[in-house]
Amino acid sequence: MSKLAAIILAAGKGTRMKSSVPKVLHPVSGLPMLAYPVNVLKGLKAEKVVVVVGHGAEAVRTAFDASGVSFVLQKDQLGTGHAVMCALKGLRGFNGDVLILSGDVPLITAETVKGLLKLHRAGAGKKPALSLVTMLLDSPKGYGRIVRDEYGSVDRIVEEKDCSAPQREINEVNAGVYLAEADFLRKNVKKLGNSNAQGEYYLPDLVELASAAGRKVKALTHLNSNEVMGINNRVELAKANRLMRLRKAEELMYAGVTIIDPETAYIDSFVKIGQDTTIYPCVHLTGETVIGSGCVVEEGSRISGSVIGDSTTIKSHSVIEDSVLGRDVVVGPFARLRPGNSISDQVRIGNFVEVKKTTFGKGSKAGHLSYLGDSVIGAGVNIGAGTITCNYDGYSKHTTVIQDGVFVGSDTQLVAPVTVGKGAYIGSGTTVTRDVPAGSLVITRAGEKVVAGWALKRAKKKHKKN
Ligand code: UD1
Ligand code: CA
Repeated sequence: MSKLAAIILAAGKGTRMKSSVPKVLHPVSGLPMLAYPVNVLKGLKAEKVVVVVGHGAEAVRTAFDASGVSFVLQKDQLGTGHAVMCALKGLRGFNGDVLILSGDVPLITAETVKGLLKLHRAGAGKKPALSLVTMLLDSPKGYGRIVRDEYGSVDRIVEEKDCSAPQREINEVNAGVYLAEADFLRKNVKKLGNSNAQGEYYLPDLVELASAAGRKVKALTHLNSNEVMGINNRVELAKANRLMRLRKAEELMYAGVTIIDPETAYIDSFVKIGQDTTIYPCVHLTGETVIGSGCVVEEGSRISGSVIGDSTTIKSHSVIEDSVLGRDVVVGPFARLRPGNSISDQVRIGNFVEVKKTTFGKGSKAGHLSYLGDSVIGAGVNIGAGTITCNYDGYSKHTTVIQDGVFVGSDTQLVAPVTVGKGAYIGSGTTVTRDVPAGSLVITRAGEKVVAGWALKRAKKKHKKN
């Protein structure tokens, strides 16, 4: 079998995106769109993957530095044909099939590319010089139209801007996915001209060159046009995001996750979710989040870069960032876990509790209205409503340690650095400024004064005045 190498075209400015960010770095389901063709190629074991960069080259290189691809610079973006000419510099000495993908076609699947490979390599006769993917669209606007000859073979591709009125009516279009012999490419990209409406060297003109040389061109007509849609503007970006989101949701549902409304579950491509977990509407799961099995994530919650253990419930409108939670934990509603928390099994974090860089031991509870930052909280601790760790002195952050079994009464301030020993008891309304020995009670409370009849007297006075 022929060897395989690949080129991904990613040098274009993406003018229609109207953005300072290179088009291929715009995210689709949490990943820059270029990551999708790169991933497809990983599964195909291409010998070498050359990404053509140009506009925003440094940013693209940096983002994909660790992905194993190599880069070729296309200094001036003179068209897709010129881009491939540049890319071939990165494939010197390679003999075999070259797959050409576009960096702006993220929904492409490995199956489609495999289908193209199969078609290209099928049959014992003369191999085609070039094979490509086409699609049938109700509204073909913006794409290159496929012109077939009287035998039904692809004769040439005409770009929208170069189309005659009847050609514009053709609804079979070029998907921008090609497979060609390395040798054919080397000999022919040089021959491409640029006398067309855009003054560019068009890669699709290779079709005409192949026909002229008496070489075959094969076409795989793809009926799922969504998969090969190119992203050229933000409307198409939103559409691709939606399609990718639905694809991810379907994959999860087939794997045993209940997603109540797949249309509004925003789950990034690389999120993992265990069986029998239920995801409510309007949930955002982003980054490399991993959610266990048997969990519930209620509406409006956002979880990013976090690991959630089995049977844990995240109630409505909670935000969890870069944290690790154990099993049987309940968070929210309306809780906020900022980065750096490590929450053990069976912990309860209730409404309007903000937690940052804090460790919670097994079974501890902070039910209501608290701020716990830079804290080390042991097991079996009860944090009363309105507890605040005063972790910042205006210059630096300090740690609060609350050991196992401590009872923190409501409306307590803990002025860090401070340690509350095992099993200690903090009376409500206390400001703890010094370390509390294990097993003791700490309470700072002004003496309570009751003045009998005071309110009544005051009311009478006011009444007289009026
Ligand atoms: C291209 C095809 C069109 C096809 C469509 C499918 C050409 C001339 N036209 O049109 O037939 O229907 O894709 O989506 O190829 N790029 C470079 N260097 C350049 C120019 C472009 O690397 O000099 C890259 C872009 O970054 C992009 C890809 O090539 O990733 C396609 O370029 P784009 O300008 O989007 O082409 P389309 O007009 O969409
Ligand atoms: Ca495009």
